[in-house]
Amino acid sequence: MSDLRELYQEVILDHAKNPRNFHAMPDSVRTADGHNPLCGDRLKVFVKVEDGVIRDVSFTGAGCAISTASASMMTESLKGRSLVEVQAIFESFHDLLTTGNHADRDEELLGKLAVFGGVREFPVRVKCATLAWHTLQAALKGSAEPVKTE
Ligand code: FES
Repeated sequence: MSDLRELYQEVILDHAKNPRNFHAMPDSVRTADGHNPLCGDRLKVFVKVEDGVIRDVSFTGAGCAISTASASMMTESLKGRSLVEVQAIFESFHDLLTTGNHADRDEELLGKLAVFGGVREFPVRVKCATLAWHTLQAALKGSAEPVKTE
């Protein structure tokens, strides 16, 4: 295993074991529930938006290491971002996981999220890595329906 790959795994494991922003946010403006029917894992995303900017974002729930780490790193990367930036980051992240085609612009946008690039080799785990992101999208759209990855 290459050093880089090992480093990436360490980052993911660190976030899975000690997820950041792992709490409910009672005064959040928007929430949504996400569910991966393949495994039964569920999570809830809380987000506070002011003036088109994500002021705060957090999550709760139980998931696998990849889904927990992805949710944790998503909350870290999106705080303080405008909704336009959030959409661009989501699209880059999705491309990274599904096609591997991402431009230099995306490297900058993705930052640490690039550690999830290896997940592309395991299609089933792509749903784990994107669960929190789809749930966030639903929260931002104000969707009342729980999000399913299927
Ligand atoms: Fe359930 Fe990953 S195995 S979200």
